[in-house]
Amino acid sequence: MMERKKIIVAIDGFSSCGKSTLAKSLARALGYIYIDSGAMYRAVTLYALRNQWIRNGQLDTKAILDGLSLISVSFSFDPATERNTTYMNGENIEEEIRQLHVSEYVSQVSAIKEVRLAMVRLQQEMGKDKGVVMDGRDIGTVVFPGAELKIFMTADPEIRALRRFRELTLKGISVSMEEIRENIRARDFMDQNREESPLRKAEDAIILDNSFLTPEEQLLWALEKANETSM
Ligand code: DC
Repeated sequence: MMERKKIIVAIDGFSSCGKSTLAKSLARALGYIYIDSGAMYRAVTLYALRNQWIRNGQLDTKAILDGLSLISVSFSFDPATERNTTYMNGENIEEEIRQLHVSEYVSQVSAIKEVRLAMVRLQQEMGKDKGVVMDGRDIGTVVFPGAELKIFMTADPEIRALRRFRELTLKGISVSMEEIRENIRARDFMDQNREESPLRKAEDAIILDNSFLTPEEQLLWALEKANETSM
C-alpha cells in the first residue's frame, strides 16, 4: 500500500460550531494528534481568574503576562473514556475550562497580543512533525499558514446555541438559552473584530456549513479531503 504523507489539518471557525467534535474524530480516523488551541487560551483565563488577575470584569494584563511562564498546558487522550483531557501544570482542568465563568473572559484574554504570541509558539512546536489536527480561530491564517488542509466551519447561530445548551445541560451545568445566545453573540463579535489575529477564513480554506449535517457526515467529508490532500 502506498505510504501517505503526514499533513497538518487546520480547522477554524466560529465558537460552538462543532470544530472540536470534527477535529477529534478526524484525528482519530487518521491516527493523528488532536490539539485544542482554544483550551490553551481557556487555561490561561482560568489561571488568571484563580489568581484574581481578572476582577470585577477588569483584566490585570501585566500580571497575566508576568504569569504566562508559570503555566504549562498539555493534552492527553484517555483510551478508557475515549476523551481528550487538558492539563494545566499537571492538574486536570478539562471540566472547569468549559464553564461559563471561563467562557465569559476568554475572548478578552485571547485578544492580548503577547498571550497570542506565546500560545502560537507552543502550537507551532506541537505541530512541527505534522500529523496533527488543530482547531481554533487562527490556525490556517497565523499558526500554520502552510497547512495542507484548511477547513473553515460555520453554522446557524441558533443551532449553535442549542448544541451548546444541550452539551452544558448534559454535564449538569445549569444555564439558560438566553445566556448562551448572548455569550455566542459576544464571542463572535470579539473573535471577528479583535485587532490581533481576528477570526477570518484563510483564502485557501474550504467552507463547511454543518447546520444540517450529522457528525458522521462531516467526518466522511473531511476524511475524503484529507485523503485527497495526503496522496
Ligand atoms: O474554541 P473555544 O471556544 O474553546 O475557544 C475559546 C476562546 O479562545 C474563543 O473565544 C476564541 C479564543 N481562541 C482564539 O482566539 N484563537 C484560537 N486559536 C482558539 C481560540
